[in-house]
Amino acid sequence: MSRKKIIAGNWKMNLSHSEAMQLIRDVRDWKSGFDGEVIVFPSFIYLTEAVALLKDSGVKVGAQNCSAKESGAFTGEVSAAMLSSIGVEYLIIGHSERRELFGETNEVLKEKLKVALRHPLKVVFCCGEPLDIRQAGTQEEYVSKQLEESLFALSDEDMLQVVIAYEPVWAIGSGLNATPEQAQQMHAFIRGKMAEQFGKAMALQTRILYGGSCKPDNAAALFRGADVDGGLIGGASLKANDFISIIQSV
Ligand code: 13P
Repeated sequence: MSRKKIIAGNWKMNLSHSEAMQLIRDVRDWKSGFDGEVIVFPSFIYLTEAVALLKDSGVKVGAQNCSAKESGAFTGEVSAAMLSSIGVEYLIIGHSERRELFGETNEVLKEKLKVALRHPLKVVFCCGEPLDIRQAGTQEEYVSKQLEESLFALSDEDMLQVVIAYEPVWAIGSGLNATPEQAQQMHAFIRGKMAEQFGKAMALQTRILYGGSCKPDNAAALFRGADVDGGLIGGASLKANDFISIIQSV
């Protein structure tokens, strides 16, 4: 079955307003024969303008986080309903930086998934093991638990709105990407888990992205894996040329 590829740029907490707008225009104005999806994830405060600038361009806009709560007295938080109301289409949930630096547990992520899907936002759900787990060789058990505790209670209908991103924590921002073999092996494992829980047809439809030090010079090799459906790009998504060259390598 052919799955539509995705190349997504997670800008994290980077770029001034003018830099962000320029990058959005550069990505928008670049015309290609790419028939997959391109998604950018700017900071919250640039989202309204990003949605306007990218209207009808084919480039989609996502947010990097949202509250697990529906609405109310949660100073400083941003709700899924707010994101949806300004035309944001995607949401990243479960990035390792949110898990590690902001204490987001599998349980909290499950709540975020529920609230996001209700509004309805599409979700890029991140999973992946830290270095000590990789060194101990227990990455499959670790990632299984992340999937089981956050994703496996979803209905089939909701699961259709979720893209999985496998991001080994040791590869994020480190310059040390997973080898194409390591990535493919984990992607195949994740697809197998999906098949066990949701059935083979759902597993075959689910897009699984790779993230972690993906760059123009390693993207083509990483994306050749049969179960690798594109990438969630951090650092290299901040430079238009690098991001576009990664899209071209699909
Ligand atoms: P880098 O591409 O900078 O390693 O970041 C990957 C990432 O965390 C994307 O969400």
